[in-house]
Amino acid sequence: MTDRSTQIAERMLSLRRIFAHHEAFGQLEEQFQVLLNRRWAEIAAGVSMEARGIAVIGASGSGKTTAVARLLSHTPGLICEDSKTSRMDIVSFQVPSPATLKFVGQTALEALGYPLRRERTEMTIWEMVRHHLQARQTLFLHLDEAQDLMRHQTPKMLQSVVRTLKSLMQTRDWPVGIILSGMRDLKELLNHDPQLARRFYPIEFTKLHSVTDGSRVARLAASYSDRAGLRERDLVQDQFAARLIHAADGEFGLVIELIIGSIEEALLSGDRCLDPGHFVRAFRRRSGCVDALNPFVAEDFERIDARALLQSEGLL
Ligand SMILES: Nc1ncnc2c1ncn2[C@@H]1O[C@H](COP(=O)(O)OP(=O)(O)O)[C@@H](O)[C@H]1O
Ligand SMILES: [Mg+2]
Repeated sequence: MTDRSTQIAERMLSLRRIFAHHEAFGQLEEQFQVLLNRRWAEIAAGVSMEARGIAVIGASGSGKTTAVARLLSHTPGLICEDSKTSRMDIVSFQVPSPATLKFVGQTALEALGYPLRRERTEMTIWEMVRHHLQARQTLFLHLDEAQDLMRHQTPKMLQSVVRTLKSLMQTRDWPVGIILSGMRDLKELLNHDPQLARRFYPIEFTKLHSVTDGSRVARLAASYSDRAGLRERDLVQDQFAARLIHAADGEFGLVIELIIGSIEEALLSGDRCLDPGHFVRAFRRRSGCVDALNPFVAEDFERIDARALLQSEGLL
């Protein structure tokens, strides 16, 4: 690589490592801290009460996975894995496919550091999960893409998923809190059983809207461009933020990805200023679509289905 392209790659990396705070993340942090403090207090007092959970709900690209990862890596006092005591405060994994209870249990065991060596029944696997959660002193279990627990399940299987989640939170010796992150169907899973729903605190990563979030999104673009050492031009003009929000289908994470992609366009062209033209090119590059379907170009951009364009390229 030449010096210049190395520099650009480094700058891009540092942009991708920024975590942008947002309101839903603030709620997540606050609620998690409440549950964590409660659990720590119970452990210190030697009592065990039923644990609670948090459900992080939003569309793909809203930033759920990033937010939970940030939360778990930045909460003071959490021990991810201590080689001496084998303590593992948090166990986090993505729900496997197919999401049979047995396969989910097996994945949980792997995340706990105990991959199965031979075939076991579903019941034995979950007994092992419970045993290792206690041995590792795990406080919270995080299941990402948790809406998959719902997919293709018969009512009977769904009932056993719900029962398993509840029983983890209710285990007398060592109750474990649960964080579920996933898409809208996740709500259905929780609402399937009122007893489960009442144990979960829901946090929604709602869509951005140009009226309420336009100026914040324009500021976000400006602040990223500043971090990249670029000046900005015309990013506060009418409709720019609305176009950006629309191009990202209202999802916070996708807004950031588009901003970063546009900065890369500017840097690669050797431009000193970030302007709407870079966003046109970034969207074109990502979706491969013609200008008539590009929300940064089209006059009637609001009719464009940006999610469908990004999905057709397998980007969502
Ligand atoms: N708070 C954030 N700060 C910076 N980038 C973010 C943030 N949230 C999401 N992103 C970016 O947006 C993209 C999609 O986020 P992700 O967490 O995978 O969404 P989801 O899990 O909801 O589908 C990722 O590339 C991620 O880097
Ligand atoms: Mg995700």
